[in-house]
Amino acid sequence: MKDSAKKLKITTPKGRPMLHWVGKKPIEEVQGYPTQLIEAFDPKQTNKIIKIPEYKELEKNWHNLLFHGDNKEVLATLLELGFRGKVDLIYIDPPFASNKDYMRKVELRGLKDLGRIEEDSESIIQQTMYEDIWKRDEYFQFMYERLILLKELLAETGSIYVHLDYRMVHYIKVLMDEVFGEDGLKAEIVWNYETGGVSKNEYGKKHDNILFYTKSANFTFNPQNILEKRGEEVLRRLATGVESATRAKNDLRLPTDVWRIPAINAMALERTDYATQKPERLLEKVILASSDEDDLILDCFMGSGTTCAAAQKLGRRWIGVDVNKGAIQVTSKRLQKIIKGQKETKYPTFAIYKVNNYDLRILKTEAKELAIQQYGITKVKTDTFFDGLRDSGELVKIIDFNHPLTLLDLQLIVDELNKRPDEDRDVVVISLGRETKVDAWIEEWNKKQPYKDTRTKKRMRQFIIFDLKDKNFVSYEPSKAEVEIKRIGKDKVKIKITSFISPTIIKRLELEPGLLQKKIPDLRSMIDVVLVDTNYDGEVFKIGFSDVPEKQNDLVKGEYELEISEKPTKVAVKVIDMLGEEVLVTKEV
Ligand SMILES: C[S@@+](CC[C@H](N)C(=O)[O-])C[C@H]1O[C@@H](n2cnc3c(N)ncnc32)[C@H](O)[C@@H]1O
Repeated sequence: MKDSAKKLKITTPKGRPMLHWVGKKPIEEVQGYPTQLIEAFDPKQTNKIIKIPEYKELEKNWHNLLFHGDNKEVLATLLELGFRGKVDLIYIDPPFASNKDYMRKVELRGLKDLGRIEEDSESIIQQTMYEDIWKRDEYFQFMYERLILLKELLAETGSIYVHLDYRMVHYIKVLMDEVFGEDGLKAEIVWNYETGGVSKNEYGKKHDNILFYTKSANFTFNPQNILEKRGEEVLRRLATGVESATRAKNDLRLPTDVWRIPAINAMALERTDYATQKPERLLEKVILASSDEDDLILDCFMGSGTTCAAAQKLGRRWIGVDVNKGAIQVTSKRLQKIIKGQKETKYPTFAIYKVNNYDLRILKTEAKELAIQQYGITKVKTDTFFDGLRDSGELVKIIDFNHPLTLLDLQLIVDELNKRPDEDRDVVVISLGRETKVDAWIEEWNKKQPYKDTRTKKRMRQFIIFDLKDKNFVSYEPSKAEVEIKRIGKDKVKIKITSFISPTIIKRLELEPGLLQKKIPDLRSMIDVVLVDTNYDGEVFKIGFSDVPEKQNDLVKGEYELEISEKPTKVAVKVIDMLGEEVLVTKEV
């Protein structure tokens, strides 16, 4: 974005009553962040996808949008891109402040029939999808900021649905009253999901709460659409004897604020194994009642992309946002499948954008945490330069993992030590890679330091390098794929995945290398999705072909013949493994 320093004014909420917490602060202005187009799905070759998704461009030629980034930053960016007042319907299902991690179950493909891995729980690799651990005050501030920005994006006739449960609904209702005004409240919907146990020790939990607010008194509302759509289906099911008459009655009258919709069950076709996935029927109901065809729908806590999926099926335009890369991949995969199955749709195209380079940030904090654990480091908050102390007494400096250790980094450490003449402890420098000159410099430095103890000839302020690239640092061993890419005939390419290995999956399965072949007889079981761009420009991956197996247990084919241009072209193959790690292999043919 050219003018990213531009500040955008935000209206301060004036509503009463108000909830108070430590550190409460409204958002008064925001600014957008750099947006990078990273993947495009355009099976109908509309060639509409634009690099910077500005509303006035998209309005002429819409394609749907997936954003990978923190939603506060994405919402600010949407405002800058001209989406103020353009969103007709918002549904959000934010983290619940429930003090537990939500996990995604990851199963390898094709191993069910082999029995072995399925039965011991090894094939289920628990992947933390996001941490739902919040301190109350932080949670309120977090929600407050997002709700304020969402209001700016919402159209005058627009609606917002906020999905909560009994633990948070009362707080967020007061927040919503402040941001949208008490008059904005139209309903508190009780979603009775029917499933779930009963217990002797507590009341069995059978419902969530969905707050429905509008921005003004003049809002889109068509509950009869629900009746029409569900009615047809219910009559069909009654006729075939599947539906009981009492249940059917619920669906054959104008909707009330109690919605009986089963939660996703283990066999459901729409299931993605995203722990907090909501049923499409729930979103279908929200969308039918509170939007018209072609309206724009936004979900900035999109998870597995249920809102996007339902919007796509109902002919609405959509925007999905999530901070988690797994969520982006699950949603992308889900929407590709839906679009491929649609005979007719006005909106067959979507693009994935990264906002403010979030990947790198996650990677950095995660790697830092791992290093801290691995090397027995205690963080020292009071030291503004060093990151911590090792149990063995050395000072620790962690070099930013986005660059290898350089002489300049070392010089900065020396400058700092010069400010601390009494400091005689050794310094451990942790980095991811290092420049070649570094080793010689360290050797030199270490030799020059005065003796700490002349008897043992131990010198002070010795530098010790821990280069994570040298150590077998699990989280940084990337997956490796070997792919044959060959032109056959004048306009065809043959692609064959000849080998694939994910050290992280193997590590998490805790397999000995020798056991690998026995336990994972087909390496394709580690592969989730294969995507091909037959005319790769080196920058944006355009999904021309995708192999997304229908069922969890099916393997990708791994071998493809695709049409390509007769002229020389660059073919790119993206292999995504079951943990969401991506490997890109390209070749000019
Ligand atoms: C309860 S889940 C949503 C599930 C979704 N309704 C579905 O049907 O799959 C909440 C999602 O919000 C995402 N999230 C949490 N904090 C976020 C943030 N600051 N920005 C964007 N997404 C966030 C999480 O990664 C998670 O995917």
